[in-house]
Amino acid sequence: MNILIGNILKLNKLENQRITPDAVTYDVSAQLCESLLQFEETWEEKEIEVEVDVEDHAMVTADESFLELVWNNLFSNAIKFTESGGKITLIQITEGDYIRVSVSDTGCGMKEETRKYIFDKFYQGDTSHSKEGNGLGLSLVKRVLELVEGSIEVVSEEGKGSTFHVTLPAAAIAKKDCQSFSNTPQNQRYDREIEREKTKK
Ligand SMILES: Nc1ncnc2c1ncn2[C@@H]1O[C@H](COP(=O)(O)OP(=O)(O)OP(=O)(O)O)[C@@H](O)[C@H]1O
Ligand SMILES: [Mg+2]
Repeated sequence: MNILIGNILKLNKLENQRITPDAVTYDVSAQLCESLLQFEETWEEKEIEVEVDVEDHAMVTADESFLELVWNNLFSNAIKFTESGGKITLIQITEGDYIRVSVSDTGCGMKEETRKYIFDKFYQGDTSHSKEGNGLGLSLVKRVLELVEGSIEVVSEEGKGSTFHVTLPAAAIAKKDCQSFSNTPQNQRYDREIEREKTKK
């Protein structure tokens, strides 16, 4: 589907709340890695360095496809607004009842004036990239985070880069149950890949 139409339809649905979020308890650290990996070809082409520091498992209760939208938009922006030779860093950590995710880049950054409007529909601050995309990504991100009772903040400096900080409520499950909740076929495959990588080194 055309990306613009797709985003408009999604935003419209989310705004009118015609869909009830389909909340399940799942491992968001695995989801973060999987979403980031979808951009591997793009960051390799642009020769961008990627650093990842996420926990083995971190459980959230949310609609998976909603949060997928959040990560995809943050990663695609980080890659789009970072020049060759730059770096993107993904960090995820659990702090008490909250899961914190930050996506940083060493890209073009934003002026204070731009920063005020980036979550508005159709706003694009960076004219050199405005042909790419439509300025809907971050308004979708903001709306999704409202629906899942999370939040987003941005720290950015023009010419130096940007960091988007996302906070989500951690799932209310005991730590010892974390492993069994995470034991989905997708996570097992992911764990095996990590083990393979480790033994290669
Ligand atoms: N990582 C970033 N670095 C610098 N500027 C950014 C970054 N992320 C967002 N912005 C600024 O915020 C604006 C809005 O971002 P948003 O994701 O909503 O739209 P877009 O990326 O331009 O288009 P779309 O997401 O629809 O493809 C961007 O046009 C850009 O000016
Ligand atoms: Mg975008």
